[in-house]
Amino acid sequence: MFQNLRWRLLLSYLMVMAAILSIFGTGVYIFVSRNLYRQLDKKLLTLAQAAAPSFTDVEIKGSRYLEQVDAVPWRDIFNRDQQSLEWFDAKGKLLASRGTLDLNFRLSVGSQTLERWQKPKQIRIYTISVFKDGSNPNQPNLEGYIRASQSTEDIETVQSQMLWGLGMGGMMALGLVSLGGLWLSQKAIEPIEQSFQQLKQFTADASHELRSPLTAIKASVDVMRNHPERIHPKDAKKLAAIASATAQMSHLTEDLLFLARTDGTVSTPVRDRIPIPLNKILQHLVELLEPFAQDKDVALQSQWFANLSVMGDETQLTRLFSNLLENALQYTPPGGKVILTLAKHNRFALVSIKDTGIGIEREHLPFVFDRFWRADKARSRREGGTGLGLAIAQAIAQRHGGKITVTSQVGCGSCFQIRLPTV
Ligand SMILES: Nc1ncnc2c1ncn2[C@@H]1O[C@H](COP(=O)(O)OP(=O)(O)OP(=O)(O)O)[C@@H](O)[C@H]1O
Ligand SMILES: [Mg+2]
Repeated sequence: MFQNLRWRLLLSYLMVMAAILSIFGTGVYIFVSRNLYRQLDKKLLTLAQAAAPSFTDVEIKGSRYLEQVDAVPWRDIFNRDQQSLEWFDAKGKLLASRGTLDLNFRLSVGSQTLERWQKPKQIRIYTISVFKDGSNPNQPNLEGYIRASQSTEDIETVQSQMLWGLGMGGMMALGLVSLGGLWLSQKAIEPIEQSFQQLKQFTADASHELRSPLTAIKASVDVMRNHPERIHPKDAKKLAAIASATAQMSHLTEDLLFLARTDGTVSTPVRDRIPIPLNKILQHLVELLEPFAQDKDVALQSQWFANLSVMGDETQLTRLFSNLLENALQYTPPGGKVILTLAKHNRFALVSIKDTGIGIEREHLPFVFDRFWRADKARSRREGGTGLGLAIAQAIAQRHGGKITVTSQVGCGSCFQIRLPTV
């Protein structure tokens, strides 16, 4: 039980950490990428601005000027393999260009990214307007445009390296976090486990300690009732009430002791497991409960569709089925029917206990296996029920690797199905 809780805690912890790490990684990636593009834009702007003074010469002499003049001011910052510079007149007509990038893209002032099919896949472009010298600053006289562009291959390489680095770093961080999480979840569970063990021990001890005084009361009451002549007629009823209350308390302490001993243990110890023929124990129970059914005027029918055995503990399995059969008989009014069937379904034995009783309300169904839960507390108490029968039945089924399910309809009846793995 706690192992399961520990894994769930660790998983939640890992999921939270993975979410934080991925948000952090994405943030770093976006921040660094934006900075790289901003730097590239600055570089392109500087290049375009450096090329602006040569605009008039380019306009007059065209690309001849660019071939002749080696000492152009932007020469040192221009990388002809990765960058490109273009001069346009005021109408957007290309005057000259420098560089190997082949751009066929509409002119637009400012920064842009051009996506392409061929390599380089992305080109960053920065276009500035060039104004005539001495023009009025309020009404500048447009001379043309200069467009500087560069492939973003370098940035993409840095980005993919960053993705790798962040991915690997994130994986390693998650690995370390899981180690830390294992230790933390262990530490977090320890106090819960301890108090659970203490509670379990307390319940077991208290139930165990109550057994002897209850046995003593029961023995004394039995002795007194064996000699009715010694009892004052007025006390006979009181004695009967004491006997009934004692029986109910013994039943409750036995149930509590059983639950306290089995709580937290996942399955029956291997040494206690032997093949148990289900037909035999069910037949035996039917014979045992037949007088009770006749008393209540309820027809108890059984149908065996297979001979099946399960590995387990005979006493516990008998208790599982008797709890369910007793319930079915108890909560079925006179004239009703209880049908017990045993069938095989794949590797499983399927025992179903169907009654035509009072049924359980739909919204109550999720609670029927809870400890001390009873639909009608007043009546169940009057009838001697403690509300532990189904909780015990479920604990036994789970210890045998099985499962109980219930379907019910108020006024029509209930059907409890038990699935147990066969030998
Ligand atoms: N076959 C059934 N038909 C209708 N109600 C049922 C049936 N079986 C169980 N219940 C409801 O579920 C409740 C819990 O059942 P459970 O067997 O755990 O306790 P109980 O029968 O009240 O007491 P005990 O501990 O003596 O068995 C019952 O009080 C009853 O309200
Ligand atoms: Mg019961």
